[in-house]
Amino acid sequence: MSLLRLSGVTAFYGAIQALRGVDLEVNEGEIVTLIGANGAGKSTLMMTVCGQPQARDGAIIYDGEDITRLPTHAIMRKRIAQSPEGRRIFPRMTVYENLQMGAEVAGNVDFAALLEQVFSLFPRLKERVHQRGGTLSGGEQQMLSIGRALMSRPRLLLLDEPSLGLAPLVVRQIFGAIRELNRSTGLTVLLVEQNAFQALRLADRGYVLVNGGITMAGKGAELLARPEIRAAYLEGAH
Ligand SMILES: Nc1ncnc2c1ncn2[C@@H]1O[C@H](COP(=O)(O)OP(=O)(O)OP(=O)(O)O)[C@@H](O)[C@H]1O
Ligand SMILES: [Mg+2]
Repeated sequence: MSLLRLSGVTAFYGAIQALRGVDLEVNEGEIVTLIGANGAGKSTLMMTVCGQPQARDGAIIYDGEDITRLPTHAIMRKRIAQSPEGRRIFPRMTVYENLQMGAEVAGNVDFAALLEQVFSLFPRLKERVHQRGGTLSGGEQQMLSIGRALMSRPRLLLLDEPSLGLAPLVVRQIFGAIRELNRSTGLTVLLVEQNAFQALRLADRGYVLVNGGITMAGKGAELLARPEIRAAYLEGAH
């Protein structure tokens, strides 16, 4: 069953068109990755799902409901959580306070249980629970950003380049955590990545975005094997 479906979605920044009629689907329980070069429109697509910028044409259907024209705060209440590019944690707040902020959206739920779930996924955060976000390492900040998104108990988790700037070991930890969550709780994930190799290995399915439009789609393993993908996105990959 489709949890998220975009059809013919366009988005603009002023006169600049960033999305050119995107069709994309994420089924319940799937990990789907969106890969593409710098400036292809990956972050824009993710932000458009969250209503900022709003799609100009086309439709975004989430859980059977048209959310295309909803304001961002209304979309966030529908258990869609985002870990945006560049992490955007609150640097002056502690790890604990950052996670509390994430839980705000969830309302009256079992905070302690959610916290335990995040800590078991990222034990590093538990060790650093009273440290200020801004003093965490890059990888730890990424874990915090994902952890904060999880505190809102999402059904759909949107991740924008969680591997950016991180060492291969940390990337494996983070991708491992995403897979673990997906398996244990059935969390649906849309993962935007430039790290095409890792992303396609993790994902059930992938889409390739070029210049604001989808040019290829398929199973993760299938896309990994395609020569044109290897040439364009896996140069130097093992
Ligand atoms: N706020 C903005 N105002 C104007 N143009 C923007 C804005 N944000 C993005 N763009 C433009 O839209 C296009 C798509 O940008 P986007 O950030 O979605 O790309 P991306 O695929 O996420 O790239 P990257 O891999 O570098 O993060 C780019 O040409 C970018 O310059
Ligand atoms: Mg981006």
